[in-house]
Amino acid sequence: MEQITLHLHLFAAIAWIGGSIFMAMIGIFLRDKKAQQAVYPKIGPIFGYYQLVSLVILLITGTIMAQSFSLLAPLFNGDGSEVINALQKKLILVAIVVVLTIIHFIIAIITNDKERTKVQHLISRASSLLILLLNLWILHYAIVIREAL
Ligand code: HEM
Repeated sequence: MEQITLHLHLFAAIAWIGGSIFMAMIGIFLRDKKAQQAVYPKIGPIFGYYQLVSLVILLITGTIMAQSFSLLAPLFNGDGSEVINALQKKLILVAIVVVLTIIHFIIAIITNDKERTKVQHLISRASSLLILLLNLWILHYAIVIREAL
């Protein structure tokens, strides 16, 4: 059971982080406005559902694993151990990523077939860049946790 959960968690992490890196590549290399208008409305909703499913699987499997290693209770009080410190930092970053994802989704949903205002464009861009950077940081803490367990 533990093995299945870890496999699922890793698979979802690959999908989630890989997706954010790929979309960053599209953002960097697909500069043509016409091409963007043709591509984004088509792949946007598919990508949205794909990312949503990956994130939900990460949250569920992560919680199950933390529970099975008895890490959930000490999480709130802190026990000074390396694993709890790393998990606390990882979860703060995960919470920020979840909030940024919700903001990004809301803008995507209300503007999918419309022109974006400058502010919407800026928030959408900034949130996706931040999500990408935070994901790499989360990955670092995930490795620290695995090594400390
Ligand atoms: C954006 C969300 C998340 C990402 C990208 C992520 C990523 C990862 C990755 C890649 C690993 C494997 C590390 C390795 O093998 O070296 C891992 C392990 C782990 N994650 Fe997450 N994770 C996320 C959310 C969570 C959440 C929400 C929890 C707990 C509530 C959690 C708890 C754990 C635990 C306990 C392990 C260690 C499992 C083991 O080594 O057997 N993760 N995570």
